[in-house]
Amino acid sequence: MKDKLKQLESLQQEALLGGGQTRIDSQHKKKKLTARERVELLLDVGSFEEMGMLVRHRSTDFGMENQKFYGDGVVTGYGTVQGRLVYVFAQDFTVFGGSLSETHAEKIIKVMDAAMKSGAPIIGLNDSGGARIQEGVKSLGGYADIFYKNVMASGVIPQISAIMGPCAGGAVYSPAMTDFTLMVEQTSFMFVTGPNVVKTVTNEEVTSEELGGAMTHATKSGVTHLTSSNDVTCIEDVKTLLSYLPQNYREKAPSTDYELTSEQRPKLREIIPPESTQPYDIKSVINEIVDTDSFFEIHKDYAENIVVGFSRIAGKSTGIVANQPMHLAGVLDVDSSKKAARFVRFCDSFNIPLLVLVDVPGFLPGTHQEWNAIITNGAKLLYAFSEATVPRISLITRKAYGGAYDVMNSKHIGADFNFAFPSGEIAVMGAKGASEIIFRKEIAAADNPEEKLKEKEAEYAEKFAHPYLAAERGFVDEVIDPIDTRRKLIKAFATLEHKKVVNPDKKHGNIPL
Ligand code: HXC
Repeated sequence: MKDKLKQLESLQQEALLGGGQTRIDSQHKKKKLTARERVELLLDVGSFEEMGMLVRHRSTDFGMENQKFYGDGVVTGYGTVQGRLVYVFAQDFTVFGGSLSETHAEKIIKVMDAAMKSGAPIIGLNDSGGARIQEGVKSLGGYADIFYKNVMASGVIPQISAIMGPCAGGAVYSPAMTDFTLMVEQTSFMFVTGPNVVKTVTNEEVTSEELGGAMTHATKSGVTHLTSSNDVTCIEDVKTLLSYLPQNYREKAPSTDYELTSEQRPKLREIIPPESTQPYDIKSVINEIVDTDSFFEIHKDYAENIVVGFSRIAGKSTGIVANQPMHLAGVLDVDSSKKAARFVRFCDSFNIPLLVLVDVPGFLPGTHQEWNAIITNGAKLLYAFSEATVPRISLITRKAYGGAYDVMNSKHIGADFNFAFPSGEIAVMGAKGASEIIFRKEIAAADNPEEKLKEKEAEYAEKFAHPYLAAERGFVDEVIDPIDTRRKLIKAFATLEHKKVVNPDKKHGNIPL
């Protein structure tokens, strides 16, 4: 037995080395942690149990039979984060560029299956050159098997992808199908085809950073939800994100203890400017409403005219969707509709109640928007809210105009409670635009058309630019003093604790993709 144990120890030693040591990224001279260091950092101390440590690839082409590393470029297993079970895989770029072989894929699938069976999140720490070129179709098949599992796991357990090195080809499609993608600035890239192929095919000269760096995906494509300056902060972000999420779709997110006090927030009386064209930062409203320092923004740098993120309200995990008057006056457009729709669907999949703050002048007009299918994309958000069965509360802080009023979690599409501040304005469109249309003839015939327009604008504003008509019809449940917002929301969410709504029986709906 002693000899057998010695043999096991020596194999484990070899596997622990993998191909992997702490690596300096060749392009940016930035320190990257090894796959094992990343796993250690993610999981509670001493909680990691490795699976498949002694797996090796079966490839024999191109001299591969002489290059076999234990683990085959991916460390897999399970452990706990803040005491809660998670499954994890971490690719090791120092073994064939973290590329995916048949066996590498099998290891990932094994932990995905185990995560599904146990109802625990799966976290991928990605660092991979894509399909292992030496293996041909076997590695392509491995990717397809993973993609299929991603889809099957979607909505069952949270799936999180941290991109911690170059990820190319198939290595980007699995993260794209998970719930959240995080990237490390300067050392991580995501692209289907790299700069060399781009140059060959399109003659475009582009760097890896421009093509698929963290900031590119955070601001331009929206592929990544969070970016961090290094591996350590990226892993911290994964842990923070997990703290807001349940283990699976059957459970509720963990809550923290909270004792109610007066809950009054006097600052909320001051934030909304008296002039309805003046901007203000909706994040200052969010921070007054949610538990102190609990707002964790997602997709911060993409479509900044809408703000989404997780928070706690009286200790309970709550998703926030809010128009941002500081950017494009808070209009809905193609990108903001997609961003919010995806977030709403995530929260609905995992039983996270939604608070929607509304200050929206409408949809952004223009050829760019129309040609980029604002019709289909705006419909995504409408669909996502309408379908969501989690507790949903709206608070109209100021404008709720036109179709955007309907879309932003209105009572008509199933919101449970709708509150409005006295500064709320709910109408088909702003007073100026409306007057120019309905009083066009009267204005044109006036001795002083400009003055007439102003007069009509004031008339229209007095009639519609307030929340009381909507309250009269019951579309708004209550117009509230902003100072009481927190108390109202805490009580309203408490009544919805056991909300049960079942949508009509169907195979699945057909969201306008
Ligand atoms: C096998 C690979 C590999 C791969 C990298 N390596 N990618 N080995 N298969 N896919 C190896 C390299 O040969 C090298 O080995 C080591 O990993 C490090 O790679 P470098 O190129 O030196 O690193 P770096 O300069 O940081 O560049 C990283 C990279 C680049 C941008 C990822 O390696 C690259 O472009 N790789 C190929 C990407 C790609 O086209 N993948 C296949 C996509 S097809 P040595 O021994 O020299 O250290 C695909 C299909 C799936 O994925 C589609 C599903 C939808």
